Amino acid sequence: MSQGTQLRWQRATVLSHRAAAEEIAEIVLAGEAPLFTEPGAHIDVRVLPGRTDSESVRSYSVVEGAADGSWVKVGVRRSPTSRGGSRFMHALKPGDALEVTAPLQNFPLRVGAPRYVLLAGGVGITAIHAMARVLKRLGTDYQLIFVGRSRPAMAFLEELREEHGPRLRLSVDDEGDVLDVHELLADVDASTEFYMCGPIRLMDAVRRAWIERGLPLPNLRYETFGNSGWFDPEEFELRIRGSERNTVVSSEESILEALERVGVEPMYDCRKGECGLCVVKAQQLNGVIDHRDVFFDEEEKSSDTKLCVCVSRVASRSGAGAEACGADSSAHARPSLTLDFP
Ligand code: FES
Repeated sequence: MSQGTQLRWQRATVLSHRAAAEEIAEIVLAGEAPLFTEPGAHIDVRVLPGRTDSESVRSYSVVEGAADGSWVKVGVRRSPTSRGGSRFMHALKPGDALEVTAPLQNFPLRVGAPRYVLLAGGVGITAIHAMARVLKRLGTDYQLIFVGRSRPAMAFLEELREEHGPRLRLSVDDEGDVLDVHELLADVDASTEFYMCGPIRLMDAVRRAWIERGLPLPNLRYETFGNSGWFDPEEFELRIRGSERNTVVSSEESILEALERVGVEPMYDCRKGECGLCVVKAQQLNGVIDHRDVFFDEEEKSSDTKLCVCVSRVASRSGAGAEACGADSSAHARPSLTLDFP
């Protein structure tokens, strides 16, 4: 099932567009029909005008919305490897028209827990911001942790500080304040609900520490837009067992997109590394699989026998991050992967 099959699209207009931080634009949109939103919601946007296929769709978290549905605010980080999505969003101006869906919900906030921890990394604050506001309004016991590489790169910092005061904890890399996830989880108990959105390696570290502590997995909730991995994206060869349809996956496309380009139609749903519907077996691998999903557990990832082709990639062992995950740095020819479709 494609993600776009049940969506109802409408025209929207850009009301305002400003920089919320380095490389992050805050964009306020008004829809033809009301855009009612709730914490954790996102909208889908068609970022390749004139196209209606799933490749032209990107998802952006709703930071905030008017109670009467008259506008929603999204935050968009300009990606250095943008395939059109963030480039399109950053180029918008007030008055421009675009096509959007009503807010969609994959990351609902469950109210009623005795305590909450919210963790946002970088542009992940866009998904967490509204949750923190609701928890504050409800008078709940919560803590908001916001991790970023530098203060100028962290969106909505001032308003978060004003709104959440001592409940906001910052962890800023270039100030030498690197988040210790074990310390963070030290006072989390089984009744705490934990919501996070940010780079996959941050979420992976939390998930690992969460499992080590034996905390209940249903209380750990996360949103991914499946885009950051352990290695820089690079080009690699893709082969399909028993097929002539070999190709090269560029650093700017996913395996799923490359497969579609050569006429193969794998199953998929979320295209974000969450549902597992796109999983394919890896038959031969030259390099390492850069698992960018949150579907597989650690053991499955380390076996490198299957992957979520919507987000995961292949990298040579010399890519960025290799030291961090203990791989060797020997030189390889162009990395390659042979997939084994059933
Ligand atoms: S389509 Fe959902 S994990 Fe790939």
